[in-house]
Amino acid sequence: SSLKHIRNFSIIAHIDHGKSTIADRFIQVCGGLTAREMAEQVLDSMDIERERGITIKAQSVTLNYTARDGETYELNFIDTPGHVDFTYEVSRSLSACEGALLVVDAAQGVEAQSVANCYTAIEQNLEVIPVLNKMDLPQADPERVKKEIEEIIGLDASDAVAASAKSGMGIEDILEQLIAKIPPPQGDPDGELQALIIDSWFDNYLGVVSLVRVKNGTLKKGDKVIAKSIGKAHGVDDVGIFTPKLTSTKILRAGEVGYVVAGIKDIHGAPVGDTFTHAATSHVPALPGFQKIKPQVYAGMFTVSTDDYEDFREALAKLTLNDASLFYEPETSDALGFGFRCGFLGTLHMEIIQERLEREYDLDLITTAPTVIYEVLTKRNEVLQVDNPSSLPDPGELEEMREPIARANILVPQEFVGNVISLCVEKRGVQKDMQFLGQQVSLTYEIPMSEVVLDLFDRLKSVSKGFASLDYSFERFQAANLVKLDVLINGERVDALAMIVHRDFAASRGRSLVEKMKELIPRQMFDVAIQAAIGGHVIARQTVKALRKNVTAKCYGGDVSRKRKLLEKQKAGKKRMKMVGKVEIPQSAFLAVLKVD
Ligand code: GTP
Repeated sequence: SSLKHIRNFSIIAHIDHGKSTIADRFIQVCGGLTAREMAEQVLDSMDIERERGITIKAQSVTLNYTARDGETYELNFIDTPGHVDFTYEVSRSLSACEGALLVVDAAQGVEAQSVANCYTAIEQNLEVIPVLNKMDLPQADPERVKKEIEEIIGLDASDAVAASAKSGMGIEDILEQLIAKIPPPQGDPDGELQALIIDSWFDNYLGVVSLVRVKNGTLKKGDKVIAKSIGKAHGVDDVGIFTPKLTSTKILRAGEVGYVVAGIKDIHGAPVGDTFTHAATSHVPALPGFQKIKPQVYAGMFTVSTDDYEDFREALAKLTLNDASLFYEPETSDALGFGFRCGFLGTLHMEIIQERLEREYDLDLITTAPTVIYEVLTKRNEVLQVDNPSSLPDPGELEEMREPIARANILVPQEFVGNVISLCVEKRGVQKDMQFLGQQVSLTYEIPMSEVVLDLFDRLKSVSKGFASLDYSFERFQAANLVKLDVLINGERVDALAMIVHRDFAASRGRSLVEKMKELIPRQMFDVAIQAAIGGHVIARQTVKALRKNVTAKCYGGDVSRKRKLLEKQKAGKKRMKMVGKVEIPQSAFLAVLKVD
């Protein structure tokens, strides 16, 4: 099809506002899959995505839509994740598009994440088309939500289609608007090849598959291509589109979005943001790429059984084949042995990785409390980046500690604004802006990243009955009065439990941490002393009292089913315990800091 008949678009939506359901409707209307083939939510392909109902990787689908003007259009829909941990993938997907649909739940209204993503789209010169979804709900209030779109985002919403992905209402109207309002792509199919790599992943049969947007030129099966930053020539085995199944077309022209398979063995050979061109035109400039992804959160991961270490290493290597944002390097802990220091985009990303390692690779893991990256200025005038509290230099060598500061944008209905402000103050936030927009309030705060990643999202939801929404980004490092808080178990410092905290909160964090850990560490055959200390000073102490012998003895008298239950429970509990010295410590105790306020 000619460029005039191509439309490339994304959907911007807050989590749960119905992006995947609308996409499924588009596929249905365009006959992409038969109803039987159409498993629910085809675009969310990974199991965990499906179970958690969230979209992680950008994917695409090409649809043929015959419009009311009688012409058939090629619609390339590039999916984007909705969760705040994955914002960087959004701007990537948007760079392949000329327009975006802003899907807003007509009962919920505008939420912070969609505002942030909308601004990204507008900055990238995309045409943004608002759509009101879930109009079938009795609580739907389209007039209020239109006003919010206009006042909060500054987008004209007078023509916004009232739709319901559930009933199918308005779906074709959305497609018609999309064709009328989103400009067709530009580019020269006869020019020198420039194809932007939007995503690359590893497929067991094909090797590396890349999702590309051809900006100029034409890419054909059999061509010799190079990724600009690598420079190594590869023969193109196949090119095509997603329908959403991989469907070979043997050719991709300027303006089109599709996949390329070129015998590349790992994703580092086709880096996201790089440009493919023909080996013969290696002089063409690379397209502007993407901001580099930096992990925001680090944690140590250790196998419960040391025998599993090699399997763990292989599993991480496999996961990074498909997830360039996952970082890992070997780490040795006195307490936990050999493991890996892993970097994640956020705590949700961390949970997902941990879950995949346990489920898909059958590993039992202990994860230490997540931490952000700190910057340290030493007395010798060196600047260090510290992603592990236990590798912090001695206090005597420290000139200055700097913590990462996030800029957080929060949207909240007026009735909860008081609660949200108190929460931000508690989290050491500094208010930068506050605006009343319709019935919502937009708040901008600078808050230490450590407080944001710890539990700000969950706390916000709980103080606002679920209505507040959050978007944040790294702003800068700032000097702060930080100290290392150590935890001692029976007098032994446990490196894997150390954390970096603000001095003003160190005492109270230490106290609540040992109290929490006392509840989590099971009673053993001897007393277990748990202490929190700063430098040489113990600031809090609790004791887990020894089990008395006759308590265990009791277990052996009872009826069989109860005994079996107890044994099973013990077995399940065993899995996630680690011996630290003579003391068994459960996974939950390592993450106790996440539960402390
Ligand atoms: P992420 O993939 O996590 O970003 O979420 P999403 O925005 O794709 O939302 P999804 O399509 O998964 O929909 C979220 C929930 O809303 C699901 O339970 C859908 O069944 C429901 N839903 C979607 N559209 C409608 C609608 O028009 N009306 C009603 N009543 N429910 C809807």
